[in-house]
Amino acid sequence: MLRTLQHLMDFAHTHFLMEEHLMEGVHYPSRARDEMIAQHAEFTSYSRLRVLEFRKGALVSVLPLQAYLAEWLTLHEIGLDRLLAEFIREQSIAPADSPGANT
Ligand SMILES: [Fe+2]
Repeated sequence: MLRTLQHLMDFAHTHFLMEEHLMEGVHYPSRARDEMIAQHAEFTSYSRLRVLEFRKGALVSVLPLQAYLAEWLTLHEIGLDRLLAEFIREQSIAPADSPGANT
């Protein structure tokens, strides 16, 4: 069970790094970027602490944690990640000669 949770955390970590790199590449507004990075950090910190607790025996099962993290990722995906996707889509369809293009 811990291995499944570790896979979920590894996937999230890779996904977060990719997104954070992408936000820089598309010049995502700093306020939105900071919020995204803060949520990523919260997820990482929370999940690492719970795994440590499990390894020390302070948590009996990781099942509730796994469910919580999966739900968190889903909500993050339909929230902040969706806003980033919309931003990128809007940037890609903006005419090249529109105000703000290539800035
Ligand atoms: Fe994200």
